[in-house]
Amino acid sequence: MSALFSPFELKRVKLRNRVAIPPMCQYSAVDGFTNDWHLAHYASLARGGAGLVIVEATAVSPEGRITPGCTGLWNDEQAQGMARIASAIKAHGAVPGIQIAHAGRKASANRPWEGDDHIAEDDPRGWPTISPSAVAYGRHLGKVPRAMTLDDIARVKADFVAAARRALAAGFEWLELHFAHGYLAQSFFSLHANHRDDAYGGDLAGRSRFLLETLAAVREVWPEHLPLTARFGVLEYDGRDDETLAESIELTRRMRDGGLDLLNVSVGFSTPDAKIPWGSAFLAPIAERVKQEAGIAVASSWGIDDPRAAERVVADGQMDLVMIGRALLANPHWPYHAARELGVARPSWVLPAPYAHWLERYSVQRAA
Ligand SMILES: Cc1cc2nc3c(=O)[nH]c(=O)nc-3n(C[C@H](O)[C@H](O)[C@H](O)COP(=O)(O)O)c2cc1C
Repeated sequence: MSALFSPFELKRVKLRNRVAIPPMCQYSAVDGFTNDWHLAHYASLARGGAGLVIVEATAVSPEGRITPGCTGLWNDEQAQGMARIASAIKAHGAVPGIQIAHAGRKASANRPWEGDDHIAEDDPRGWPTISPSAVAYGRHLGKVPRAMTLDDIARVKADFVAAARRALAAGFEWLELHFAHGYLAQSFFSLHANHRDDAYGGDLAGRSRFLLETLAAVREVWPEHLPLTARFGVLEYDGRDDETLAESIELTRRMRDGGLDLLNVSVGFSTPDAKIPWGSAFLAPIAERVKQEAGIAVASSWGIDDPRAAERVVADGQMDLVMIGRALLANPHWPYHAARELGVARPSWVLPAPYAHWLERYSVQRAA
């Protein structure tokens, strides 16, 4: 009996297995609108057998996009395109999720394969950025953001709420707030980015305020029976990880008390000087700590592409869900092949019926 291929239930949503596809930007939208690329991409990921497919970081406002090619949910027409994607994911048996985001000081960047750096100041494709404080990320992302006023903070929270409403109207059943990866919400938490001396900076309570208030505001409009989750960088690998992790676990407890159903445990990416110990499943022990100490369901990713490693982190109780990204880009049918490798009975039935039926008969014929 495989732990990875056992169902998972959160609130009233049931995933067919524990393989989840984390949000992965496609940088292929125009003015925030999705198109045929996104439809084909997300449908193919879902038909490969994963339990959950989370649509990429989708900006709550134009200025919140990472690049000009990022998707958005700041108007109702964008939600119509997203509805087709949610429906296609569902048609293939996966639960449709979406990550809503504001990129903060990392916004207005070129696509990764076009430099990954900030768009030049004199290039009309770029736009001014905002962040808790007027401090640049550094290196290739050197643009100095404008420090947010209290009005800016209220506006961005309202943008998150409006995007959450549109995600619900579009048919998504799993919402992930992007509180990670050095984008706006992570910047409020991070000492690297937040030098404020008002209620939104300083001690843990101050640096948590934007995240907790955004969560509370979204909780008001996101239905109780559907999972409300967040992705958050619980440490930076910057030399002060014990303190950061302790603060992160405390914040996670407060988010749990504020209605968060699951944390997608990640890295902060708030400084270019981090020393990240890349390696297979390197975040698994950290995810486990968050799960134990904050008392909340967790998912995590980074470098898990081997079915046995994925099976182990679930079987050992380190994660409730395994987020598998690049391995699924390389092979959307990874879940089917993993099920075969793990000796799951009738592995073809990880796939939707129009594939499963024939593959099952084919394997019986070959064995005969
Ligand atoms: C092309 C690409 C786009 C990504 N976009 C996002 C994103 O939109 N939001 C996010 O939280 N993480 C994003 N990530 C990080 C992934 O969700 C994932 O955590 C990362 O790829 C590590 O998992 P893996 O080793 O299984 O690929 C992206 C990664 C890739 C490769």
